[in-house]
Amino acid sequence: MFKPFLEETAKIVEAEIDRLLGDPAQHAAPRLAEAMRYAALGGGKRLRAALVRAVAQTLAADPKALSWETTAASAEVLHAYSLIHDDLPAMDDASLRRGRPTCHLAFDQATAILAGDALQAAAFGWIAGDPYLSAEAKVALVAGLAQAAGLAGMCGGQMLDLEGEQTPPDLAGLERMEQLKTGAMIAFSADAGAVIAGASPELREHVAGWARCLGLAFQITDDLLDVEGDKALTGKDAGLDAARGKTTFVSLTSAEAARERLEALGEAARAHLDSLPGDVTLLHALFHHVVTRDR
Ligand code: IPE
Ligand code: IPE
Ligand code: MG
Ligand code: MG
Ligand code: MG
Repeated sequence: MFKPFLEETAKIVEAEIDRLLGDPAQHAAPRLAEAMRYAALGGGKRLRAALVRAVAQTLAADPKALSWETTAASAEVLHAYSLIHDDLPAMDDASLRRGRPTCHLAFDQATAILAGDALQAAAFGWIAGDPYLSAEAKVALVAGLAQAAGLAGMCGGQMLDLEGEQTPPDLAGLERMEQLKTGAMIAFSADAGAVIAGASPELREHVAGWARCLGLAFQITDDLLDVEGDKALTGKDAGLDAARGKTTFVSLTSAEAARERLEALGEAARAHLDSLPGDVTLLHALFHHVVTRDR
């Protein structure tokens, strides 16, 4: 049941990103705009967008009156920026992303760095300029995105990931790193849905508990796919983690232990959803999709 929802969300959010990025010829630096479009459009599962939409629709009094599209597009382009930089030679040195050459190979390193920078700025600007959200909601979203993307979130986690190539973390350190580099943006996306729905602080807390389980489960699945996944499906280089000496859940424990951890996270996630009112079927399905995905 989740797949049609994800596919429809992907279509809507791609159209929104397309609209907001606009025609490269209309920009002062068309080549930069092309690189931004290359990295932000044409691929990606759009899970962060689906998370914004699914949580918003689950918690909203009137799901039809929601404006989730621009915030979802913002989460996705912030994420696209993180992938451009993650793939750079100075970081993971990857050649394949979403089944195509990475941005720095399709363009060049300097253009890729700038495309990432500009996508990051765009994400904040789009939320701030959304005419359908209240000023209060926009401030909460911008503050939340800043927290999730920066030192205390994705960037901090990426730093720990790179340091881990030299000094392997223990299991607690690894989970901390994964919560930051991936979990923070997942947590933001879920919370953004709650903010857009006008949820109470108490409900936002329950969503946050669920999203913490989801974020970690998402990255553990990513680590498993790096070892066991099919490059034709993931659209990424296979075995890159081991080649770069990354400590992952799988390298530190085993694929078996990783799957057991996913089970336990699934249990914990279910318990959090029990505290939410209304029909949470979509959120159960989203979690299940994340841990059983092949791409
Ligand atoms: C990949 O994210 C990077 C991680 C945070 C593990 P996704 O697996 O969501 O990548 P796309 O957006 O679908 O390409
Ligand atoms: C990257 O984690 C997470 C980001 C913040 C981009 P990975 O390095 O494992 O992501 P992939 O496997 O390259 O997509
Ligand atoms: Mg990485
Ligand atoms: Mg990588
Ligand atoms: Mg990975």
